[in-house]
Amino acid sequence: MNRIGALIADMTLAEKLGQLTMTAAGYTVTGPVIAGDSTDAIRAGTIGSLLNLYGGGQVHEMQRLAVEESRLGIPLLIAFDVIHGHRTLFPVPLGEAALFDPEAWELTAREAATEAAADGIAMAFAPMLDVSRDPRWGRTAEGPGEDPWLGAQIAAAKVRGFQGSDLAAAAALAAVAKHFCAYGPVTAGRDYASVDISERSVLEVHLPPFAAAIAAGAAGVMPAFTDLAGIPMTAHVGLLRGVLRGRLGFDGVIVSDYNAIAELMRHGVAADLAEAATLALKAGVDIDMMANAYRIGLPVALQRELVSMTEIDDAVRRVLTLKLRLGLFEQPYRRGASAEGAPALERRRRLAREIGARAVVMLKNDAALPLPGAVRRLAVIGPLADAADQMCGPWSLVGQPGTYVSVVAGLRSALLGAQVVHSPGVTIGGDDISGIAGTLDICSAADAVILCVGEAAAMSGEAASRACLDLPGQQRRLALSVIDRAKALGKPVIAIVFSGRPLAVPWLIERADAVLAAWFPGCEAGHSIADVITGQVSPSGRTPMSWPRAVGQVPIFFGQRPSGRPADPDNAYTSKYLDLPNEPLFPFGYGLSYGRFGLSNLRVSPHEVTASEQIEVRVDVANDGARAAEQTVFLFVHDRIASVARPLLELKGFGKIALRPGESGTVTLYIAAAELRFLGLDLRPVFEPGEVEIMVGPCADRSLMLVQSIRLCA
Ligand code: GLC
Repeated sequence: MNRIGALIADMTLAEKLGQLTMTAAGYTVTGPVIAGDSTDAIRAGTIGSLLNLYGGGQVHEMQRLAVEESRLGIPLLIAFDVIHGHRTLFPVPLGEAALFDPEAWELTAREAATEAAADGIAMAFAPMLDVSRDPRWGRTAEGPGEDPWLGAQIAAAKVRGFQGSDLAAAAALAAVAKHFCAYGPVTAGRDYASVDISERSVLEVHLPPFAAAIAAGAAGVMPAFTDLAGIPMTAHVGLLRGVLRGRLGFDGVIVSDYNAIAELMRHGVAADLAEAATLALKAGVDIDMMANAYRIGLPVALQRELVSMTEIDDAVRRVLTLKLRLGLFEQPYRRGASAEGAPALERRRRLAREIGARAVVMLKNDAALPLPGAVRRLAVIGPLADAADQMCGPWSLVGQPGTYVSVVAGLRSALLGAQVVHSPGVTIGGDDISGIAGTLDICSAADAVILCVGEAAAMSGEAASRACLDLPGQQRRLALSVIDRAKALGKPVIAIVFSGRPLAVPWLIERADAVLAAWFPGCEAGHSIADVITGQVSPSGRTPMSWPRAVGQVPIFFGQRPSGRPADPDNAYTSKYLDLPNEPLFPFGYGLSYGRFGLSNLRVSPHEVTASEQIEVRVDVANDGARAAEQTVFLFVHDRIASVARPLLELKGFGKIALRPGESGTVTLYIAAAELRFLGLDLRPVFEPGEVEIMVGPCADRSLMLVQSIRLCA
């Protein structure tokens, strides 16, 4: 019998259920207070994991109780939400997705893991991989955007970054891919609401990022709070045991979301805690986060013979195996043993500044950016201008807001010879408009106006859905007043939009001279923004989600199926609106730079392929703009005739090229012909011979793409 088997054989039921229990740790001046439990429980071995605890000293204090005072000395698993950095905050994940750079995605995860491990943390509740096509849903900010293939690239990069090559390494964190699965399409964009979508959408849209995370070796998975067609994910035997553990071969730890097991009663599928615990255990959930359902419910379930000791032992085995893989048995105090020095933290801040700048998506630029070097006086207006504490967005739990850089601070630092005058005008969400007049006054003497508008950090993330996708509060009134005054004075207005989601602001796009989507750029926000505005950095971000013209277009995404009546402007009886175009304000992948790029000469070879072959796609890119810049080109496919109607565009690749003015170059992309298959409902790949369109473009706008067809052969 191996070490874990021997340990399990020696464990009491209470100790086994302790390993299946994760509870929150809160620190007060009087010492550790374990929510719902005392530190006695750790000594008794009836708690096996903690969340919301960080700091080497505090973690080691708890770890010592478990390792040196409990009967079996089983170490604690310390877990935390390391969503977009730990102490050094990078852009929110949706903003980081805009980089379209797997190396960067991996690097920031590794940097975050290093910081979190230095705080004693061994598990990250990340990456969040919920594909979202509905900006009303606040958790869109935490995810990879609207596309499953992009989500899969992000998933693999983040798991590599968090876990590294050795899970036992001092700076390695167990990655928990969440929230499995299909959380994004909550009804009406309302967080936690029921989800009712087709099995095919689950397989084709929401599963691929998790399949990629599992293939990359993710150590954990967290089911979503939501039900899927009436079956809560926390109790979904078909998807957890059947697909996740069965078809995808996941043998790691499934940790429930916060209190989710107890919430099976609210879902209406369990009459009491024992039934809830039974459903979750049978679905394969190993750790009960914060519901105390396993500790209280499973003993009753055993008495009722609803579960077996074998099922409990299987879960305990997976948890202990993870602790062993993390090196916690051999070196329980390794993580948190040493604090990083100032040079490492400074280097990481410089990285955050770079990533924050690269996340910026320039949506419009009518010759207003970069700011001319002669600028001597800037009016910086709006409630997000001097709002350092808002710049990191949701899930910035450990960051130090006092060290974040505001836009005003960043601009003052970058434009030492200029006068930067600031006025908020209104608050982010308030109704008071008395401050607007004062903002108009400072426009008069300015060379240019920087308008900083958008959402508060708390207006996206968990439990932060919005039914309206316009600017909150009285910001629209402020923006219109400022733009009107600036126009009358002949001053350019550069609008910077801070948000955790695409916003429906066509009126702003129409009126401002330039518009930057900054998302929530992270702790170095002001410097990142200043680097882009001053031209130190050419904007290279590309939006990972479509920007709607109105909330009525939602869900809006490029991967729609054709329908039997595709929109036809000359035929009323086709799929379109009476009052708006179908197309988004900005399509997936859109983003301007300080260059001006053209694509030409698409070459696809071979023209006939079998499933085992690879397709080479080459396209020439030229920069005929006045400044050096980076272009991203996207590879889409469309299987025109198949046994199941295929999406009009399926993203299968992207490439980048940096070009100086007048330069041109070639981007070469490869796609395995097998990637052109789709999944049958039995999860088996379906490869159907026939014609497939290969398209390359600057974004998900077919009118801008170069197209060639190839033939798939049996
Ligand atoms: C939250 C979130 C989940 C997070 C967990 C622990 O409710 O749904 O993403 O990891 O609880 O904070």
